Amino acid sequence: MTDTNTSSATPSGDAKYVVDDLIAQDIDAYLDQHQHKTMLRFITCGSVDDGKSTLIGRLLYDSKMIFEDQLAALEDDSKKVGTQGQDIDFALLVDGLAAEREQGITIDVAYRFFGTEKRKFIVADTPGHEQYTRNMVTGASTADLAVILIDARKGVLTQTRRHSFLAHLIGIRNIVLAVNKMDLVDYDQSTYEHIVADYRTFASEIGIEHFVPMPISGFKGDNITSLSENTPWYDGPTLVQHLETVEVLSSVNQEKPFRMAVQWVNRPNLDFRGFSGLIATGSVKPGDKVRVLPSGKTSTVSKVVTMDGDLDEAVAGQSVTICFDDEIDCSRGDVIAAADAPPEVSDQFESTLVWMNDEALQVGRGYWLKLGSQMVSVTVQQPKYKIDVNTLDQLAAKTLELNEIGVAEISTDKSIVFEAYADNRSLGGFILIDKMTNATVAAGMLHFSLRRAQNVHWQAIDIGRKQHADLKNQTPAVLWFTGLSGSGKSTIANLVEKKLHRMNRHTFLLDGDNVRHGLNKDLGFTEADRIENIRRVGEVSKLMTDAGLIVVTAFISPFRAEREMVRAMLPEGEFYEVFIDTPLAVAEERDVKGLYKKARSGELKNFTGIDSPYEAPEEPEIRIDTTTMSPEDAATLIVDTLMGDVQ
Ligand code: ADX
Repeated sequence: MTDTNTSSATPSGDAKYVVDDLIAQDIDAYLDQHQHKTMLRFITCGSVDDGKSTLIGRLLYDSKMIFEDQLAALEDDSKKVGTQGQDIDFALLVDGLAAEREQGITIDVAYRFFGTEKRKFIVADTPGHEQYTRNMVTGASTADLAVILIDARKGVLTQTRRHSFLAHLIGIRNIVLAVNKMDLVDYDQSTYEHIVADYRTFASEIGIEHFVPMPISGFKGDNITSLSENTPWYDGPTLVQHLETVEVLSSVNQEKPFRMAVQWVNRPNLDFRGFSGLIATGSVKPGDKVRVLPSGKTSTVSKVVTMDGDLDEAVAGQSVTICFDDEIDCSRGDVIAAADAPPEVSDQFESTLVWMNDEALQVGRGYWLKLGSQMVSVTVQQPKYKIDVNTLDQLAAKTLELNEIGVAEISTDKSIVFEAYADNRSLGGFILIDKMTNATVAAGMLHFSLRRAQNVHWQAIDIGRKQHADLKNQTPAVLWFTGLSGSGKSTIANLVEKKLHRMNRHTFLLDGDNVRHGLNKDLGFTEADRIENIRRVGEVSKLMTDAGLIVVTAFISPFRAEREMVRAMLPEGEFYEVFIDTPLAVAEERDVKGLYKKARSGELKNFTGIDSPYEAPEEPEIRIDTTTMSPEDAATLIVDTLMGDVQ
């Protein structure tokens, strides 16, 4: 065998791996067999003390694994295969795995590849502590099976419960309870049975109906690849036997109704139009009636195309291009489904969220929600509760912090096609993305649609925004002033409105201090309240532009995300961000309302610029430097800019 120290999992430079006889004898037969093997993805849960690295090392070591990249090397040059390699050193392998994971802890999850004669495996090795909940969720999200490790000397611990809960939450239905370190309890049957009984009681409480227990020793190798003489009382499968034969998700998914999210539309020429994607569940064949969602239009499949030619039938797990026998609309993000059993479409849901970002959830803020190839804007309401992952208690929560898990209602700006996560991971699992930083901030699972969204229908109105604007003979717009308290927003906004009014324009001024006396009198100055303040003002401004008005708003509106949210509500070109740029020192010096003084003395909390942030606009349409420009000149500049653009 060739030297294999290029392998990603190679713990030391001189390690060599044993490979099956078949490879040496007939590489083509081996590769063929290997290619048609099913793949099992699994996760190991436990901390270093439970012997996780030892177990993974043992699996790699005993299963005479062949690493994926080794295989690629073989495929490149099958002639290279020569003599069989010698065993690697077990202790070295384990040390290497542990060190590699410790280093990788803060970044991600370590994925290790190996194979036996029957199957290929990907094992996600994740750190076990509570502060790594997000890593575990990442590792578990694609897994078919979880190995929950227990130290036979310690029994079921808090962390066992946490790992089991998370694995179940993520939708893993195959659980192996590996009671490890049996050698250290003298392979005692009653110790083992006690632990299994304990776990059974807990598991049924959280809805785990079925699990496969086994007594093992990762260190000694008992019941890993062959049944151990030390546990004659155990008559279940070995760990590897179980991993080789357990049913994988893709075969379970084949039994379900057909669903495929369209990843892209293929139109190389006018004669061919196909929709490409990965079949999530079910199967499809020419002649099948399908429904395209969210539009609900139906069609019939004419062809199922792959790189290797047309297929009579394709099943879950395959990537295909589907053609219809007519030209109905279908685009990226749409879902093609069995016509008689389509998934639901909705824009309000109950969901579980696992928060993965250092910055806590901002209730009411717009995030991107990505579900497969669907991407929409979403807001999250105050969580109904969060879950203590150790006790599984439901606790009251205003937000979700890093590694916290909670249940909350969410609403999207457009309807999405979905299924409950419990039924379909690919149409029920999503991530949330921060619109400013593009960081993935949460993973989520949809439970069900809140029907109220479906029962409120949009009323078609004959007199719309165009008719309103035409009658006023103007183009609606929003002049959105932003800047520190005391920067001069209200003063300049007032002058702008007066000028426009004199020009016979129909205007309306919304000012922070005034709106907070009426519509928003229930709101204070916490981040959440400011977000809600701006959301409401944004909606009101939009209604007013629908009525044909030119709206002038004067709010601190300290956060970029909400200003961008309002921009996105309006037609392109109707939103003008007007940055009243007054340095904090100048605003504080003026202190027209005496509020800065109060804030500095601690009498007034959460004051913008003092102990609450202000995020200045990066590319405002208009920027006014009040240290060099008078309010009069500023108003003229703003009106001229608006009129120049608008005529
Ligand atoms: S915003 O941040 O939500 O956009 P808004 O413009 O409505 O604020 O209200 C700001 C006005 O409220 C200030 O001009 C000031 O008069 C008053 N105010 C009272 N408390 C605060 C505070 N903690 N931070 C900022 N402004 C405050």
